[in-house]
Amino acid sequence: MVVPPTPENLERAAQIIRNGGLVAFPTETVYGLGANALDAMAVAKIFEAKERPSFDPLIVHVSDREMLQRVVREVPALAEQLIARFWPGPLTLVLPKSELVPEIVTAGLPTVAVRMPAHPVAQALIRQAGVPVAAPSANPFGYLSPTRAEHVERMLGERVDLILDGGRTEFGVESTIVLLAEKPVVLRYGAVALEALEQVVGEVALQVEEREKPLVPGQLPQHYAPHTPIRIAAPEDIPPPQRKRAGYLAFREVPKGFKVVKVLSPTGNLLEAAAHLFEALHQLDRLGLEAIYAEPIPEVGLGRAIMDRLRRASTKPLNPTLPT
Ligand code: TXA
Ligand code: MG
Repeated sequence: MVVPPTPENLERAAQIIRNGGLVAFPTETVYGLGANALDAMAVAKIFEAKERPSFDPLIVHVSDREMLQRVVREVPALAEQLIARFWPGPLTLVLPKSELVPEIVTAGLPTVAVRMPAHPVAQALIRQAGVPVAAPSANPFGYLSPTRAEHVERMLGERVDLILDGGRTEFGVESTIVLLAEKPVVLRYGAVALEALEQVVGEVALQVEEREKPLVPGQLPQHYAPHTPIRIAAPEDIPPPQRKRAGYLAFREVPKGFKVVKVLSPTGNLLEAAAHLFEALHQLDRLGLEAIYAEPIPEVGLGRAIMDRLRRASTKPLNPTLPT
């Protein structure tokens, strides 16, 4: 059930979390599917609802510093610098886990991914629940992330005890994930731009590419994918007959000849483009198109996160029976 985040509904949601249930809630990045991070049974329900493989560890959301201390063993100096600059906000830190965090949350890893969301509804929910909240994005495993309550309802409605509606999320792409080793390592491009991170901690290492054995599923070559096959291509590279049966996800301008076009940001603003990315893909994916083509986006700032998501989304084969 989708409800507005009134004080009564927040209290109800907090109670569901405390009692081991599932609540979907808005954050500033995407909607999360939350459960009490300290309750292994409750966390198991997340995996069941998402049909998520259990080797995929979850992000633990905290509302304050004290809660952070409960779930991690230590906070290295570099992490402190990042926390001072980016929390609350869309940055996830991978830190040594405390014994309180059940193995199911971290998939057996000795580390835990933690973030303090900035969204007031997320903050209130965690604070009122009084426990850290484990939450992946509220979508079936491998599919597009939700940026609106109705996306969650459509994808997982039956499987969630309550959905708090906070309208469209601000950033529209997930948090940036940083592992704190000797040097910070970026594991996933996200809503905090690489350039912004480097201003605080200097050069960072990157481990975002698909590898033989991905550390985390966000690094799987196939992820964030709509049902419709999607390809990154400039409009002029798509022959007109194909355009007629396809949708186009344009960056700034509407190209000619496509069945339907969504423009991410008419002014070319990467923040705005990221905020509209998953929403536009959800809309295009519901139209039964032969294919979705997406315009390449400049790979600076949030453009990196956008292109990362589009590349991982574009692994499904194009329909081979149709002329190309
Ligand atoms: O913006 C976000 O981060 C959203 C909102 C709801 O907070 N959450 C989100 O969660 O995107 P999810 O589960 O879709 O992606 C979490 C990523 C996964 O790729 C997971 O494997 C990685 O975080 N992760 C979790 N724990 C980790 C750990 N200990 N070490 C490395 N990666 C980890
Ligand atoms: Mg996800």
